[in-house]
Amino acid sequence: MNNPIGIFDSGVGGLTVAREVFKLLPQEDVVYFGDVGRYPYGGRSKDIITKFTNQDILFLLEHKVKFIICACNSASSVALDDISGNYEIPIIGVIKPGAIAAIEKTRNDRIGVIGTVATINSNAYARIIHKERPDIKVFSLACPLFVPLAEEGYIEKKATYLIAQDYLQTMRDVNIDTLILGCTHYPLLKNVIEDVMGDSVTLIDSGEETAREAYKILMEKSMINSAASQQPVPEGEHKFFVSDVPEKFTQVASRFLGRPVDRVTRVDISGY
Ligand code: DGL
Repeated sequence: MNNPIGIFDSGVGGLTVAREVFKLLPQEDVVYFGDVGRYPYGGRSKDIITKFTNQDILFLLEHKVKFIICACNSASSVALDDISGNYEIPIIGVIKPGAIAAIEKTRNDRIGVIGTVATINSNAYARIIHKERPDIKVFSLACPLFVPLAEEGYIEKKATYLIAQDYLQTMRDVNIDTLILGCTHYPLLKNVIEDVMGDSVTLIDSGEETAREAYKILMEKSMINSAASQQPVPEGEHKFFVSDVPEKFTQVASRFLGRPVDRVTRVDISGY
């Protein structure tokens, strides 16, 4: 099936998920929507996030996508379960793949989750972990300052270390061996978080796990783009849309995606 894959997020952060999708599924055309005009989602209510998520999905459907990845942890955790069944194409979020990977990794059955306030308050990671393994102890912590730090490029600055040390002290105290990076922006701060948590803690990148899940589903459902069988595999077309002026998105995008983006189009999302 040669229709594009749709990926959406509250803004630029979902490009950390898109980056993993581009690696695993290079032949796929991708339509990315970043809701920069209404970013951030992480401190908003369930009602508002659900409304935005529906609109983001409707926008992508207009581009005839065959499959949708909700790259935003906040939207995945508070909205997706309630609405994904209303659509005819498969829609996945980032929570389940990250939670399952953490269950597979932990040896001491103590898992930490960090994310936005919306993600942590929803308890979505803990719910999935406990459905599979009620005996696992889950420790959750909102780290809202990590989002602007990553977005502003405060990647390995002293201030970022100090904030990470302060936030993560409680995680260090509870002897976890696995920590889920439950937010699109946190993979950018991986080195800092790794340094603060120490070698004995494995970090789980939900974006990476979600790309693997997307690959698996597309294979199982025979929905892979037919270009995958060509040698060499041609690279799919990637289109980027945002809900406000594209300048900031374009500036920050290469930090999240690992390469610059061109052709970013502004759309009016309020009409969806
Ligand atoms: N993309 C969001 C998430 O993964 C972080 C930014 C926001 O709060 O919108 O939860």
